[in-house]
Amino acid sequence: MPPQHDVSPPGFSFAPSLFAEDCQTASPAVRLRRLTAADAPAIAAGLGDFEVARNLGRVPHPYTLADAQDWLDRAEQDRALLCAGVSVDGALAGMVSLSPAGGAVRLGYWLARPWQGRGIGTRAVGAFLDFAFAATRMAATEALHMVDNPASGRLLRRLGFQPCGVTRERSLARRDTVEHVISRLTRADWRARQPAIETARLHLRTPTLADVEETARLPADRPVGLATAQTAAMLGQLDEARVFILRAAREPRPASLRLLMRLKETGELVGTIGWRAAEPGVVDLGFWLGVDHRGRGLMTEAARATIEAAFRWGAADAVRTSCRSTDWATRQVIIRCGFQWEGSGLVRPSAGGPVAADQFRLDRDTFLSFREWAPAAFHLAAG
Ligand SMILES: CC(C)(COP(=O)(O)OP(=O)(O)OC[C@H]1O[C@@H](n2cnc3c(N)ncnc32)[C@H](O)[C@@H]1OP(=O)(O)O)[C@@H](O)C(=O)NCCC(=O)NCCS
Repeated sequence: MPPQHDVSPPGFSFAPSLFAEDCQTASPAVRLRRLTAADAPAIAAGLGDFEVARNLGRVPHPYTLADAQDWLDRAEQDRALLCAGVSVDGALAGMVSLSPAGGAVRLGYWLARPWQGRGIGTRAVGAFLDFAFAATRMAATEALHMVDNPASGRLLRRLGFQPCGVTRERSLARRDTVEHVISRLTRADWRARQPAIETARLHLRTPTLADVEETARLPADRPVGLATAQTAAMLGQLDEARVFILRAAREPRPASLRLLMRLKETGELVGTIGWRAAEPGVVDLGFWLGVDHRGRGLMTEAARATIEAAFRWGAADAVRTSCRSTDWATRQVIIRCGFQWEGSGLVRPSAGGPVAADQFRLDRDTFLSFREWAPAAFHLAAG
């Protein structure tokens, strides 16, 4: 990094809008954001440090402000490059990128020295990969690290990369060839590490771009509850489904999580469910089930398991939800999960005017004492 793009895998390109909005990580202080021309001095300072540049293949030493400005100009035009700045408490601490190299999609990353060794790299690169696999159809990614760079090797292992070979490559800063370990992360390996829940009849999985068409085909209707409006309001259009999936990929886990619900028996997509951080220790639960699948207890089954995941993995102390006052079906789901009514009032869903709604809350202890159904299987945190 900064990378040179000699060989592009056929058809490999990223939509320019992918990093239009920040991508959050597990740590509120660490975010991934679009780079701008104003980042040139921070990039020059970070990469101008030989201790950083010596671990990167394509960064010369010395590395100047003009080099950083030139690279930013080219990066802006380059559709084969997906690149994000790592921002820590608002300061640019480093970069993460994906770009074509030698027929593969190559991962690159660096942090300036003051930010190294504090877990920031693992968090930032992990969130970037989660976003990239969810928001694109990339099949796999490859990373090279120098044999004398153990921090990079450990970071890759922590994120599920498997070493698959060695190669000698030139380091511009060292002015020498250096032995590198090649590691690879396939989509299947990445997928196996994503949060997932399995109930008696349902698989609950995080959405990816491959789900867009099917998500958009879910029978469109008015949202059942307000909860619905947060989760998947008006998914019946391709653009809306894509926005829903990109938004899910940008949210910080485990503070927030959105899942698609599929029938185990047929694989059919039937709805969505998820939670979102509301205030410290409290998450808002949202859910939606396609009209053809209602009346079979599927929503209650998914909601109970997802609430348990929010308590266990999302570290929530309480879950809140709401539904239209006239929506008896959603209210039944809510009551069957053990929620207690908290109050009612007028609220404004994401689409349409204000509606009368009831609010409910479920505390961890109440849920655990109430729970008498068969437990779901969880795969919630990897690494
Ligand atoms: C590589 C880099 C991105 C890692 O980011 P980081 O925030 O410093 O790393 P983390 O704190 O997340 O630690 C990652 C792992 O490396 C280990 N580690 C960190 N510094 C280390 C060091 N100096 N020596 C050995 N291991 C180290 C950590 O313990 C952790 O391993 P673990 O999860 O098994 O405990 C960062 O150090 C860096 O930018 N280095 C210079 C540029 C570079 O090497 N880029 C990668 C090129 S392939």
